[in-house]
Amino acid sequence: MGEMSPIRNIVILTGAGISAESGLRTFRATDGLWEDHRVEDVATPEAFRRDPALVQRFYDQRRCDVLAAGPNAAHAALAKLDAGWDGELLIVTQNIDDLHERAGARRVLHMHGEALSVWCLACDARHHWEGTLLDGPPCPSCGAIAMRPDIVWFGEMPYRMEEIFDAIARADLFVSIGTSGAVYPAAGFVQQAAQHGARTLELNLERSQGSHWFDESRLGAASVLVPEWVDEVLGA
Ligand code: APR
Repeated sequence: MGEMSPIRNIVILTGAGISAESGLRTFRATDGLWEDHRVEDVATPEAFRRDPALVQRFYDQRRCDVLAAGPNAAHAALAKLDAGWDGELLIVTQNIDDLHERAGARRVLHMHGEALSVWCLACDARHHWEGTLLDGPPCPSCGAIAMRPDIVWFGEMPYRMEEIFDAIARADLFVSIGTSGAVYPAAGFVQQAAQHGARTLELNLERSQGSHWFDESRLGAASVLVPEWVDEVLGA
């Protein structure tokens, strides 16, 4: 068995499971968001055209939930890794919460947008936002009443895909944390990473739909598995 080449470049994909212990609901669990909201009603451009008030109310509530939540031990461990890792590191999150950043992580990329960001469809400006949109506030840049949540809805292109593919192509290690592997393109990243020769590790409460693509799967709560794994990587 040849010597394992050293790990320099790491890509970490996170999903709703990493924020579950912070009190933010996941999507596909029995008590998941998609249990009492139809994706078609609240998370597509068509839904926004059909009933903007329903969509705005849904994301106004999620913005409140994010502001009320706090990072957990898994977020803190990834922030510690970010601070202590001098190789390449990119935390690609599918989550719209800012708990990675609030824990101190810096090398974070939100591929599905951010709850605390709004996008003006009149002037294309984006603004940090902690209030509501249901009441139709004017855009701080152009004054138009045309702002929507800065979220990537189903049928829309995720953000910064070129950067993600570049990082995966250079990765020696790809780690997936708290995601069911149900949604593409994120669910396909493990295969791309494996094809580029990276080692692949899954940290999840249960086996995900893509478990068979991973070299190793560790099952359990993120708040336990992630600090353990980070200490291993940092050789603590
Ligand atoms: N620790 C680790 N994993 C957990 C925990 C936990 N405490 N709690 C739940 N999980 C795992 C579940 O086992 C599940 O596999 O997290 C995963 C959450 O899966 P989903 O609810 O499908 O969420 P996610 O994979 O992030 O969804 C992907 O789908 O709805 C869209 O845009 C939305 O970004 C989202 C995307």
